[in-house]
Amino acid sequence: MAETEPALAVIGGTGLYRLAGLEDVRTVQPSTPYGAPSGPIRLGSLDGHPVAFLARHGEAHSVPPHRINYRANLAALHALGARRVVALNTVGGIGEAYGPRVLACPDQIIDYTWGRISTLCEEPGTKVLHVDFGDPYTPDLRRQVLQAARQAGVDLVDGGCYGATQGPRLETKAEIERMRRDGCHLVGMTGMPEAALARELGLEYASIAISANWAAGCGGSVEEITLQEVLDNVEAASSRLPDVLRALLKQ
Ligand code: HPA
Repeated sequence: MAETEPALAVIGGTGLYRLAGLEDVRTVQPSTPYGAPSGPIRLGSLDGHPVAFLARHGEAHSVPPHRINYRANLAALHALGARRVVALNTVGGIGEAYGPRVLACPDQIIDYTWGRISTLCEEPGTKVLHVDFGDPYTPDLRRQVLQAARQAGVDLVDGGCYGATQGPRLETKAEIERMRRDGCHLVGMTGMPEAALARELGLEYASIAISANWAAGCGGSVEEITLQEVLDNVEAASSRLPDVLRALLKQ
C-alpha cells in the first residue's frame, strides 16, 4: 500500500503518456502476481489530491493493445490503494455525435477482442468469478465524471457503446459497418478486458473516450486514417481533461 492512497487512478491511452498538471511526482515500478505493468506508475498530486497515472501502452507507446498486461496494470493500481479508475481511451467515431475531437463517457461495451487474458480466474485452482457486467462502467463514477465535466465547462457526450477491437491494425469499412449495425458508437482497441478486470477487482471504473478520427468509412471520410491525425486530434481534445479530473477530485 502506498503511504497515501491515490484518490484516483488515471490510465492514459494513445497520445496520453503523461498527466499534465501532476505535481510532486514520484515513480514506482511495482510487480504483481500477473507480472509487470506497461510501465512506471507516476504518483503525484493534482490540486493537492493524490493521483496515480499509468500509460497503458507504456510511455514510449511500445506495447500493442493485444499485448498489454491488463491484469498487471489494474492489479498494480489496486495494490497502491486506488479504488477509482478513470480510463482515457483514444477511439474512432462511428456515431454521428462522436466525430474527431469529441469527448464521450461511454455506458456500454461490445467486445470483439480475442485471445486476451480477460479474467483474474485464469490460473487453475483460482476461484471462478462471474461478476455482474450488465453496466460495464460504474454508474456512480460515470455520473461523477459527467458532473465534473459540466462543472469544468467541458463538453462530454453522455453515453455511447464502445466496440473493442483486436488491433493493432485499424478496421475495414465492412467491420465498422457491422459494428454500427450492432449498435457501436465508438471503436477502440483497449477497452476490453480492462473494464471487466476492473470489475473483478472491485474497482470503480469509467472511461473518457477521446475521438481521434472518424472510423473507417464514417463521417463521409474518404481519407486514410494517419497516426499524425490521431495524435493531433487527441492533443487538441485532451487539453481540458485535467480540469475535468480536478473537478472530479473536488466532489
Ligand atoms: N479504430 C480503432 N481504434 C482506434 C481508432 C479507430 O479508428 N482510432 C483511435 N483508436
